[in-house]
Amino acid sequence: MDKLVIEGGVPLSGEIAVSGSKNAALPALAACLLTAEPVTLHRIPQVRDIRTMLDLIGHVGAEVRVEGGRVMICAGHIESPEAPYELVKTMRASSLVLGPLVGRCGRARVSLPGGCAIGARPINLHVAGLEQLGAEVRQEHGYIQAEAPNGLQGANVQFDRITVTGTEDLLMAAVLARGETVIENAAREPEVADLAVLLISMGARIEGAGTSTIRVQGVTKLRGAEHTIIPDRIEAGTFLIAGALTRGDLTVRGCVPEHLRALIAKLQQAGVEVTEPAPDTLRVRVPGRLKNVDITTEEHPGFATDLQAQFMALMTQAAGISFVTETIFENRFMHAQELARMGANIRLEGRQAIVAGPTPLSGAQVIASDLRASASLVVAALAAHGETVIDRVYHIDRGYEKIESKLAGVGARIRRIQ
Ligand code: EPZ
Repeated sequence: MDKLVIEGGVPLSGEIAVSGSKNAALPALAACLLTAEPVTLHRIPQVRDIRTMLDLIGHVGAEVRVEGGRVMICAGHIESPEAPYELVKTMRASSLVLGPLVGRCGRARVSLPGGCAIGARPINLHVAGLEQLGAEVRQEHGYIQAEAPNGLQGANVQFDRITVTGTEDLLMAAVLARGETVIENAAREPEVADLAVLLISMGARIEGAGTSTIRVQGVTKLRGAEHTIIPDRIEAGTFLIAGALTRGDLTVRGCVPEHLRALIAKLQQAGVEVTEPAPDTLRVRVPGRLKNVDITTEEHPGFATDLQAQFMALMTQAAGISFVTETIFENRFMHAQELARMGANIRLEGRQAIVAGPTPLSGAQVIASDLRASASLVVAALAAHGETVIDRVYHIDRGYEKIESKLAGVGARIRRIQ
């Protein structure tokens, strides 16, 4: 199993580039199943979750061609609208094919995702939404079996709670449903808006994506299209935090500052200087001491849960007590214990982590438990004295493209060993 070895203490400096968004690319790839014509997607990050989704799309019978960051998919004929357990168990986002398959084929069989390191993460809201569009859904043998032999029928769907992939799944089902669908309490994440841009270029009629009410007028058929995925705001945020934590001077290029407003505000409160030298560029420096700041994770445009672990690592170096409250997932503090092994002073009380800083960080052997937890260990290791060895790096490979070479390019001493 691969490990990352990081010799910390080097301030990161120079320019680092952001890849395409994993969480926007996943639904975009699933959306390709909605048309028999070819779809070309650009800026698809080469990470493990994307390879899993491409395997799944190939499994249902679509042709897939990958040329670097460009992916061409043609789902001329869907042989088996089914997502098997082997693929879904390695990536929950596989449930994103449920909506497009029912919409296009009138039936789908998708394995239920298993447990997950960060929480129970059910897909009941995806299912309830599809039922409201007229699908008959049964659960048997660990699979969700959805059928709508006469097609889906538009409806008003009010989500009980905000769900990102649930919104995306339902949006993809609704574009081919008869009549109007209104999705209320929809997720407002930029990834949902990006999916709508792709669907609209395929001929879908959608208004309001990126707000909490999305209106869809169903069409009978979608066509091929070409689309470029938005930059990864979580990768960009991880780099900004790494720049601040190492007290470097780091320029993050190819991002959308608008998608990072909540993080930028918290970084500034913490004493980090954040500037926008160009419309797609952010630069961080730390002129003085880092100050303690409280964060509470929320749906977009609030502070992203996917940046909570990395921000907690930053707060270990801030003077004073910081409260980090996680409201989206019930078990997303696995990194706290590992950060403590590196010298952090963190107490967990239910959904709150209380971080007392600053305490010097020192390199240690640590274990990555999920994607963003691993990212927090990487940023902490970059700032720590001595060598950190991070085990189970496959978690980070799920979502960060070329992490070692990107960080090495701005001065990090980082290498991968087997
Ligand atoms: C998406 O997951 C992201 N994944 C996650 O990123 C991200 O952490 C999360 O949104 C929150 O921003 C992708 O986009 C592929 P949710 P998703 O449905 O859609 C509960 C990463 O690190 N819920 O918005 O699965 C759920 O348990 C990943 O890149 C239900 O109860 O998250 C959670 O508590 C991790 N029933 C809350 O809603 C449902 O049917 C929000 O989850 C669906 C969700």
